[in-house]
Amino acid sequence: MKLIIINGPNLNLLGKREPEIYGSLTFDDYLQELKNSYPGVNFDYIQSNIEGELIDAIQKAGFDYDGIILNAAAYTHTSVGIGDAIKAIETPVIEVHISNTFSREEFRHHSYISPHVKGVILGFGLQSYKLAIESFL
Ligand code: DQA
Repeated sequence: MKLIIINGPNLNLLGKREPEIYGSLTFDDYLQELKNSYPGVNFDYIQSNIEGELIDAIQKAGFDYDGIILNAAAYTHTSVGIGDAIKAIETPVIEVHISNTFSREEFRHHSYISPHVKGVILGFGLQSYKLAIESFL
């Protein structure tokens, strides 16, 4: 099983960024936990603050992996381009969010990504990523 986690803007600041919403663990530490918990899964990980780089990563992974776990962060609510990239590829995508975006500001209630993904997992903190892995397994 070959999975890639793609994280969008500001998720490089996990651990420091608004810990009351996003928790105090860094993503590197969490990724290590995931790797330890799922030794049979081959994980790749990309984070970018740049929309085009996320689209490149989706296109590159889109014919080569068993699954993509995507937290497009703020681009979820703005990016037609990321939605189109998901439509263009073969690999199934699961959209994840750490926070429950529906309990937050109204602009976070709309996703340009959700219509094109296999499923959406949100609101379980970093465990949203683990639930996405479980669903691929
Ligand atoms: C987020 C939710 C988005 O609304 C926000 O812009 C993020 C993170 C989440 O994981 O909860 O950066 O995707």
